[in-house]
Amino acid sequence: MLPETKINAAQHQKLSRIVYKESGIVLDEKKRNLLVARIAKRMRLTGISTVSDYIRRISNSQDEFNEFIDATTTNHTFFFRENKHCEYLIKTLDRKKTLKIWSAASSSGEEAYSIAVQLLANSFSFNIYASDVSSSMLKKGKKGVYSIERIQKVPHPILHTYFQKGTGQWRNHVKVKPEVQQFVTFEKFNLLKGKSSDQFDVIFCRNVMIYFDTPTRQKVVDNLCEALKPGGYFFVGMSENLHGLEHKLSLILPSAYQKKG
Ligand SMILES: C[S@@+](CC[C@H](N)C(=O)[O-])C[C@H]1O[C@@H](n2cnc3c(N)ncnc32)[C@H](O)[C@@H]1O
Repeated sequence: MLPETKINAAQHQKLSRIVYKESGIVLDEKKRNLLVARIAKRMRLTGISTVSDYIRRISNSQDEFNEFIDATTTNHTFFFRENKHCEYLIKTLDRKKTLKIWSAASSSGEEAYSIAVQLLANSFSFNIYASDVSSSMLKKGKKGVYSIERIQKVPHPILHTYFQKGTGQWRNHVKVKPEVQQFVTFEKFNLLKGKSSDQFDVIFCRNVMIYFDTPTRQKVVDNLCEALKPGGYFFVGMSENLHGLEHKLSLILPSAYQKKG
């Protein structure tokens, strides 16, 4: 029998509570199939055959607990996604300053590198801090190797300048060149738990708050706004907004905000 046929309501509730408490992601009844698919994958990989045994494992093993949380994240992303935000920054930001930019739910790094290559192409000086709760995604970001499907939207001149083409078994892949990678630092950061001691000129927090409920979104926005310099820019995903939340930001474009001051 498949593991998904064996998960009962109490187990679903227990697991979704763990996920909510740890990452803020809401996996309610509507997301039951998603939770089941993700847990089934971990059960396959660990060779555990019942959900109750798997629950026991994550209570006893911090490593498997982390793997479980990682497995419940949705990491879909690609290069030059929602690029209007970056185009706006290129027109607006000060080239004389070294900019500090935070890609605050960076997944496997495409967002951070997309910003980096465009800022380099436009002679900005900057550092990008890319963070995520998922260790497996951060590992991919550090590696900087991507399949060609992910780079469809990258303009050719940028592709030629900042990416190396793979050969042999890697012929359908590209690697971000070291001269780009040197400006991007990947680090684990849980938006729900962490507070940044740094101050940023720009924060991207895109396509992650859709997985959170209102109290969690409020907490995340409060923390990120604290980490934003006065006059700094804050971007959420194109299908997201800050409606219903308290904040001291002004809307400057759809899903783009600026901190007053
Ligand atoms: C759909 S991806 C978005 C990637 C990129 N920002 C974009 O717009 O293409 C959402 C990312 O949010 C991360 N995430 C979810 N909960 C998080 C949390 N509490 N703290 C940090 N990252 C989180 C997931 O691991 C995932 O990689």
